[in-house]
Formats: sequence, C-alpha cells, structure tokens
Amino acid sequence: MMPEQKPLYHFRPPFNWINDPNGLIHWRGKYHLFYQYNPCSPLWATTMNWGHAVSEDLVHWEIMPIALSPTPGSPDEDGCWSGCAINKDGIPTIIYTGIKGRENRQETVCVSQSHDDSLVKWDKYHGNPVISSPPENIELVGGFRDPYVWREGDSWYLIIGSGIKNVGGTVFLYKSQDLINWTYLSSIYTRNQKETDPIWTGLMWECPQFFPLNDQYALIVSVRDNEKLYYPVYFTGTYEEYKFEPQALRRLDYGADYYAPAVMFDDKGRCIVFGWSWEGWNEEAIQAVGWSGVMSLPRLVSLRSDGLLNIEPVPELNCLRKNNYCLLEFDLSSSYVDLPVHGDCIEIAIEYEPESANEFGLYVRRSPNGEEQTAIVYDAISNNLFINRDQSSLDDRAYHGVHGGPLRLNGKESLNLRIFLDRSIIEVYANNQMCITERVYPSRDDSLGIRLFARGGKVRVKSVNAWELKGI
Ligand code: FRU
Repeated sequence: MMPEQKPLYHFRPPFNWINDPNGLIHWRGKYHLFYQYNPCSPLWATTMNWGHAVSEDLVHWEIMPIALSPTPGSPDEDGCWSGCAINKDGIPTIIYTGIKGRENRQETVCVSQSHDDSLVKWDKYHGNPVISSPPENIELVGGFRDPYVWREGDSWYLIIGSGIKNVGGTVFLYKSQDLINWTYLSSIYTRNQKETDPIWTGLMWECPQFFPLNDQYALIVSVRDNEKLYYPVYFTGTYEEYKFEPQALRRLDYGADYYAPAVMFDDKGRCIVFGWSWEGWNEEAIQAVGWSGVMSLPRLVSLRSDGLLNIEPVPELNCLRKNNYCLLEFDLSSSYVDLPVHGDCIEIAIEYEPESANEFGLYVRRSPNGEEQTAIVYDAISNNLFINRDQSSLDDRAYHGVHGGPLRLNGKESLNLRIFLDRSIIEVYANNQMCITERVYPSRDDSLGIRLFARGGKVRVKSVNAWELKGI
C-alpha cells in the first residue's frame, strides 16, 4: 500500500482538479477563498468553475457551493477563469476572465455580483463582457487575462496580465467609475527581458497583483514561458502617473510547485497571500488518486526596510500544533542526529548558527535506511538554500530535482527555518524572507524520520522544535 498523499491541513476539496486561488476577500468577518475548479475531473480543462470555501480563521475551511460556472451562449461559455473580488459600495463583486471558444480563445473581462452575505449566490452582469479585447496596435503573446481591481480616490483601477511580442511580460491598466465602462490608460510596467537577467521573467504574465505596502508598491506576477518555466516573482518599487518603477525583483517562492499567488487585505489591514501548489508527479498518478492541486498555507506579507518582502506563515496556524518536542543548544560537527519525532504532518522550527560547516540542514520524510529522504540544505559556500528531492521517492511517477535560491546570511546572522510537512507537500520558510514549496511522494510507510546534519565542519543548533499538527 502506498502511503496517503492527500494533505491534511492544507485546503483542497476532496476530489478533482483545482488551480489558482481567486477572489480572496474578507467579508463580514469571514475569509472567502475562491479557486479554479474542475468538478468533473482531476485534470485541468478549459471549462473552469469558481469553487468556494469560507473560513473564520484562515485555517479551517468549509466548502460552499460552486460560485461561478460557464453560462452557455455567454462570453464565459467555455470557462470562468481567474480574477478578483472587491467590495463595491457594500456589494461583493467578482471581476473575472470569461472564456469563449476553445480553439480560438477569446479572453474578456466579466463581472458578477452577490446580494447575500454568505457569497453563495452570484448574478452575472447582463452586459458582460465589460472589456472585450486587448488594447489595439500591440502585438501580444500568450493571452490577456486575470483582472485585478482596486479603488484609488474616486475611481476603480484594473490591471490585467499579458505579454508583448519580442519584449516580455506586461500589465495593462484601465480606469472606471462604475466597473462597467473601462478606459485603457497604459501599461504600468513592461519587462524588457534580457538573457543576462538573474531572474527570468518570461514571455507572458498571469495573475498580476498590485498593492501598496508602506510607502512603496508591490507587483506580483506569475511568469509563464513556453519553455515550461512557471513561477511567481515580485517587484517592489514606486508608482506614479500610472507607471510602476521597480527597485527589487525576487521570486516569491523558489520551489518547483507554487504558482498563481493572490493577495487579500483583511480587516486588520494584513496582507495575506495564498498560492496554488500543483502536483509533482505525473498524470497517471493523478488519475489514480483522483485529485490534483492544493492551496498553500496563508502567508503574511509586509515590507522590510531593505525593500524586500517579509514573508511568514499567518500566526493562526499555531492552533494546529499539538505535541511539542524541543531540543536546545548543541553542536553538529560533520555529523548528524536523528530526532525522536516522526511523521508526515509536522511543523519543525530550527535555528542554526553557522560556524565552519560548508553545508548543513536536515532530511525529512526519511526512511530508516535512507532509501527515501528529502534534503533541505543550506550551502554556506554559495549562500543558497534548496530542497533536493532526488531521493524523495522510489515511485517513478514522482518528479525529481533540486530547487532553491539565494539566501545571504549577514555576519553572525542565524538561519531560522520553519518547515511544514503535510504528507505530499513541504513548505519551507527561511528567515521570513524566502520560501520553497515542493511536492514529494515517499512510497514507504516508514519514510517519516527527521535527521539534522552538518558537513565539512561545525554548525551550532540553538534550538529545534517540532510539533505534530492536526488535520483540518
Ligand atoms: C494561471 C492560469 C490563469 C488562468 C487560469 C485558468 O494558472 O493559467 O492565467 O486564468 O489559470 O485556469
């Protein structure tokens, strides 16, 4: 028997396909999470619906009826794709991508409103679409979709993801007084991609999110490229006269399995991000289990003084903790230690003080003989943190590879890791600055061990805490 791979405290419906989080909104004290959902199959299809779940604490979710489905004979007859939700003068309003035509796809902007506080029933605007085609005289690649709307002064603004041929990803800006009549203004930002850029920002951008943080603005986009590179990046910078001027660019997550993040502001003013984690095994495996995709844990995002994003799990997640195991102040000198805690539904928090070790970190989901194990490694020579899943599974349907990115520790700075294991998903948070989300599918029932290690010298472990976590 294969171990169960379906996560226990990450949100997903029991079966079938999900992708992007959509229309995140805190409404009358409840968090609403909509998502791309195919209720008919564990695989993606054009004819997407908006699934819906509601929560009081961002952790426990109740599944609600499907919020949006394609309407025959309308501009969304072949799919209700990604978009956002806003409060329009007290009326919850969804602005989403309508899809018409499967071969020659028409992507338009559509509107739907709800008149009940539980956000269950939605009425599509009879005059949809409200934006029927991209700006003229620009040669686009890859699409025109995923509207994101905000209020500024007495107007509504909408951005939408696209790509300009032979240039790179772009975000178009529109303005409206009523969410119905939109005027095209400009592209707030187009990335003139160069081969030498340290982060490849691709041909086209999906799911743009744009919001103020302190005195700056953040732009998050999901980079999509024909080469099958798909990941989210963020820019922080300034915004004036409808132009965004970025100063920093980073990946929002350095793992292989995190995409299409969406933000919401709750009534405490916190900026919360959910992303979609797709599966890291092949279609045959997905068909066999009958489900695909999970929501990442909610992440709190704020701006640091150096212009980068501070990213950490929301504190509400602490309610999942049960038994704690703690070990303080010990050294590892080119050696290892096995923790007495085992499991696949665990949070681990470790503080490492780097000394002479070239490499240190831990193995999780480790079988007693090491036949299966997933390594989370800090390389102190190159200043990189990564997950290595080359040995994660003996199941040849599971994907391999090493994924991560730069994390420089200044002077005597410690490495603080928080790691969430939930069956097939691993989320790593490092120094509130960097995340790695990855999927692994150990095939052995006993691939549950945790081993801390150091190589090529010494590291001091200031503390290690592990908690078993409850399911939701
Ligand atoms: C991103 C995306 C969006 C689109 C949706 C369709 O994953 O491709 O651009 O609206 O998924 O499901």
